[in-house]
Amino acid sequence: MLLFTGTSNQQLAEKLSDELKIKISPSEIIRFADREVRVRILQSVKGEHIFVLQSLSQLGDANLMELCQFAEIAKREKAKKITAVIPYLAYARQHRAHRQGEAISVKLVADFLKVSGFDEVILLDLHEEEVLKYFKIPTIHLSAVEIFAQYIDANREDFGGDDLVIVAPDEGRAEQAKNLAKYLEVEFAVAKKKRKLDVPDTLSDYVLLGDVKAKDVVIFDDMISTGSTALHAAEICLQKGSLKVNFIATHAVLAKGEADYWEKSPFEKIYVSDSIFVPENKQFAKLQIVSIAPLVAKQLQNLV
Ligand code: R5P
Repeated sequence: MLLFTGTSNQQLAEKLSDELKIKISPSEIIRFADREVRVRILQSVKGEHIFVLQSLSQLGDANLMELCQFAEIAKREKAKKITAVIPYLAYARQHRAHRQGEAISVKLVADFLKVSGFDEVILLDLHEEEVLKYFKIPTIHLSAVEIFAQYIDANREDFGGDDLVIVAPDEGRAEQAKNLAKYLEVEFAVAKKKRKLDVPDTLSDYVLLGDVKAKDVVIFDDMISTGSTALHAAEICLQKGSLKVNFIATHAVLAKGEADYWEKSPFEKIYVSDSIFVPENKQFAKLQIVSIAPLVAKQLQNLV
């Protein structure tokens, strides 16, 4: 087994290499003056099962190209199997043409991974399971629910003990939030939202199904981007009498706001995984990062 990494999340690759007790295999990735990328694999991959870790976080397009070059090289150099490890998949929210005239962009991503030579893809907490249908190569869809459940379990006093309700901020997240609640043996609620498709990053009506009165709340979502989904859910929970509101999101997209924006938010703390690398200048006091390295390492070990 060989582990390669792109440039988007080398910190997670290092944690993975520690967990797996293998070195990251050498490669060279350069960007030319015009920003085109060139990857060079610096060891033989012939007959090997290779894993390439790359999060398709900002800029997803550029990181995708980097990732796919690994597969193109490894295929020609006769690797036995080539697995992409993509903790955060770009364009997963464009999984259908929401309106006439729009592209199904995630299908393009899936096609590109296949034609570049990948045999298999490992993904984590996709925006929608439906995304998987666009992959014409085998996929493994991991969930960070257990990682976060274990974290809450080990720090129960920070989450209101047993007086805790897990809240899905929309119906799309209901199943995962329910799983988290089940694992922790606590109550569950769901907020229903409606997006205004003509005005990006805005929401309209919101209702909460479930009881959060006098309880601590954990809002659980796949990602924190502008934060508006979770902020609306927090607002409604507080209106309904919840005590503290924590927010857990697998992917720290953090597309909006400086530290101050999140510090002033109603969240007690914001917990994310390291599926996306958060540079120091984007970190803030309320942010806690929980590593998915043990989960991913276990999966990789199962595959070899
Ligand atoms: C949307 O349906 C997703 O599950 C997330 O709730 C959403 O994409 C998060 O984005 P934002 O932080 O911008 O509300």
